[in-house]
Amino acid sequence: MRDPLIDSSVTLGVTGSIACYKAADLASRLVRAGAKLDVIMTEGALRFLNPITFAAITHRPVVTSLFDPQSELAMDHVALARRSDVIIVAPASADALAKAAWGFAGDALSATLLAAEAPVIFAPAMDANMYDNAATQENVSRLVSRGVVIAGPEEGRLASGLIGRGRMLEPAALVDHVRIALSRHGDLAGRKVVVSAGGTQEPMDPVRVVTNRSSGKMGFAVARAARDRGASVVVVSAPTALPAPTGIDVLRVETALEMMDAVNAQCEDADVLVMAAAVADWRPSGAADRKLKKGTARSLTVEMMRNPDIVASVRKDIVKVGFAAETEDVIENAHGKLVDKELDLVAANDVTSADVGFGSDTNRVVLMDRDGGVMELGLLDKYEVGHHILDKVARML
Ligand code: C5P
Repeated sequence: MRDPLIDSSVTLGVTGSIACYKAADLASRLVRAGAKLDVIMTEGALRFLNPITFAAITHRPVVTSLFDPQSELAMDHVALARRSDVIIVAPASADALAKAAWGFAGDALSATLLAAEAPVIFAPAMDANMYDNAATQENVSRLVSRGVVIAGPEEGRLASGLIGRGRMLEPAALVDHVRIALSRHGDLAGRKVVVSAGGTQEPMDPVRVVTNRSSGKMGFAVARAARDRGASVVVVSAPTALPAPTGIDVLRVETALEMMDAVNAQCEDADVLVMAAAVADWRPSGAADRKLKKGTARSLTVEMMRNPDIVASVRKDIVKVGFAAETEDVIENAHGKLVDKELDLVAANDVTSADVGFGSDTNRVVLMDRDGGVMELGLLDKYEVGHHILDKVARML
């Protein structure tokens, strides 16, 4: 498995809103991720942007009318509806929502939506009063009740200068909505995957912590890969700078003990646990409740106590994956962890190698399973590493 956008057929409907300029970025991101993209522009969209913008991005003709004799739709008016794996309307104006809600079919986008069996996503963008108006809200409810996804809008500064609900979601988030729609029949559909991420922070006093260099990137990448195979995903994350990815619940914790509670609670109804967090092996025994004063002391001795092993504390009847970050004897040490922690799979890596250091976007791991299977992966993006891990997990379920 890999990014569900690769070789997918996506139709992007662009309607009349100033957020049109962001649709060009969205189109570019979809194409770069591997989608075959068709664009339909409504009359309103044509007032804001020239179709050449999208033609240059997609390398395909842009549909601007249901009745253009040059258009593919002139010969087969439901061609795009049939071909699409997913349709996203972004920006979606109030008018576009109303037309879809009431089944209008007088323009190329409305007709395509009416004929489509593929999942449909609307990304509304409009003035806050227009969005909050009962008419628009009824149209939104009507569409939602038919299984349409309404992605956004967000609160924020609108083109009118006012602050309100009506801003289109950012293109990166919309690309993730498309991935989620494409993966609804993925090999982890109906499964719950819990992923831990980041390096725990163990307090010494209210201002100081003992921690490690984990960035959380590996765990978040596994989580995105699981989401993109249809799983419902919860990340239990120690402090990281990473925002919650679209469609993934992120529970933020600090210490190993907090992580243990959260992971165990989440695993009650989970099918898979991937422990990508760097859990501190030790915590200062008895954190001071006031800031430790340096005074005139020349040295400080901190007594540490052992943290419990989280992965070993979790139910035995789910698939468990661990990571082994090693600096020597990688294979032997990782195999020891597979056995001691009763894991189904371990992803081992040599953290001394420069291209896979903490915080990097790539990793080079060796996957080892219980049956003695060893698979050495080359240098890969962490998201791809996540998919390799989940290829094995999906077979174990
Ligand atoms: O023993 P070590 O820390 O190298 O083991 C790494 C694996 O065990 C990782 O998957 C890590 O998330 C998990 N672990 C854990 N609880 C700990 C320490 C590590 O679940 N206290």
